Amino acid sequence: MLAELACFEQTCRTHFPIDQPIYNCQKCGALLEVSFRNGQIDAELWKKAWRERRTSNEVFDQSGVWRYRELLPFDGYHLQAVSLREGNTPLLNAPRAADYARLNQLTFKHQGYNPTGSFKDNGMTCGVTQAIRLGKRRVACVSTGNTSASMAAYASAAGLDPIVFIPHGNISYGKLAQALEYGARTLQVEANFDQILALVRELADRLGIYLLNSINPFRIEGQKTIIFEMLDQRDWNPPDWIVLPGGNLGNTSAFGKALREMRDLGLISTIPRLAVVQAEGASPFYDFIRTGGEFRSQPDPHTLATAIKIGDPVSWPKAFQEVEISNGVVEKVSEQEIADAKAIIGRCGIGCEPASAATLAGIQKLTRSGTIGESDDVIAVLTGNVLKDPDYIYRYHTGQLKDPEGKTIDSRFGNKPIVAPNDADAIARILEG
Ligand code: F0G
Repeated sequence: MLAELACFEQTCRTHFPIDQPIYNCQKCGALLEVSFRNGQIDAELWKKAWRERRTSNEVFDQSGVWRYRELLPFDGYHLQAVSLREGNTPLLNAPRAADYARLNQLTFKHQGYNPTGSFKDNGMTCGVTQAIRLGKRRVACVSTGNTSASMAAYASAAGLDPIVFIPHGNISYGKLAQALEYGARTLQVEANFDQILALVRELADRLGIYLLNSINPFRIEGQKTIIFEMLDQRDWNPPDWIVLPGGNLGNTSAFGKALREMRDLGLISTIPRLAVVQAEGASPFYDFIRTGGEFRSQPDPHTLATAIKIGDPVSWPKAFQEVEISNGVVEKVSEQEIADAKAIIGRCGIGCEPASAATLAGIQKLTRSGTIGESDDVIAVLTGNVLKDPDYIYRYHTGQLKDPEGKTIDSRFGNKPIVAPNDADAIARILEG
C-alpha cells in the first residue's frame, strides 16, 4: 500500500513524503502519522499468506512484525530491515488472575517474550529500519528504560550508534543494564522523563540525530502488529476488551490505529473497546478523560511502576481519539493495587513488570464498577518481562516495598524466602510445619 506521512490534526492534514526525517507537522506542529492510500485488497488472501509465513524459515516471515508487512509503510524495503525475530508473543490463559478480577476467563498477551523483554521491540524494528532508510548513523531516545533497552539492541544489531537518555536514579537496573550491555552511549540526566524529552528533541534537531521515541510514527506502525498478531492468533475474532497500561500513550495510539485499519480493510468487523490503565500518581490522561476541558500535564509524576512514570504524555491527542472511537475507558490504580495484581500474575506462572500489572488491577476495578462484565472476553497486554525489575519483586515479597510517599506496601500475597540451617531435621520441620 502507498504510504505518506500526514498531520494528525484533522483541520490541517498536510501530507509529507515517507522519507522525511520529521516527527511533527512542518505546517502546524501537530503529531504526524503514517497514512495509507488503500487499494482494493483481498482480506482472505492476506490472512492465508500471514498464516503460511509462520511455517517459513525466512527472517521476515518469522518476525511477528514483518510477517504483516503489507500493513506497514516499507513497501519492499523490509528486505533491508533489522530483525531480532520480534513478536510471536503468546496468548496465555490465566484462570487465577481471572478469579482475582471476577472474570470467567482472562487472557494475557505477553509482550515480555520479545527479544529485549518488552513490547518496544515491535516498534523498534520499524523505527531503526526507517533510520537505515534515511541514512542516519546516530539514533537517540529518552526512556523510562524499555525503549532504551530495545533501541540499544536494534541499533547495535544494525551497526548504528545508539544514544540513550534516562532519568538519573529512576529506572530499574535490569533496563539500565540492557542499555549498557547492548552498547548504547548512556546519559543519566538529572531531570524527569518529560523534561529530558524536551531536551533530546532540541539536541536531535541540532545534531541531526534520528529520534526514536514513540513520537516517531514508524515506532507506532511497528506496535500495530501486536494487535494484528493477537487477532491472527484468535482467527480474527475480536475480544470485547483490550486492556493496556498507559504512560506516554504511544501504545494506545498504535492499538487504536491497528484496529481501525483492520476494520477499514475488512479484516475484522468490530472494534474491541480499549481500556487504558494509569498509575494514580501519574494519571494526567485519566484526569483529562474524567474531567474534560484542557489537557493538563502533571509536573511531578510518581509511581513505583517507573515504566509509566510520565506526566506529560506526547501522544495524548492520538490516544484520546482511539479511546473515543473504540468507546473505551481510562482507569487509574494505586501502588498497592499494582503490587498485588503483579503478585497474582506471578502466581499464574506468568509474571510481568510492575507497569504491566496495572492491567489486572484496572480490570478488577472495572468489573467492580460493572464497566466490564464477568463474561466479557478480555485480553490484557502485559508489556514487560518479570525480570525487568527484580528489586521491586524482592522488596514486595519481603515486606520492604515502600510507595513514593514512603508508606510500606502491604505484602498481601508475599512469599518470603526462608533462611534455613544446614540440618535435614530442621528443614523437614520447616517443610512439614
Ligand atoms: N509498559 C511498559 C513496560 C513500558 O515500558 C511502557 C513505556 C508502557 C507500559 C507505557 O507505554 O508509553 O506507549 O503508553 N515505556 C516507555 C519507555 C515510556 O521509555 O520505555 P506507552
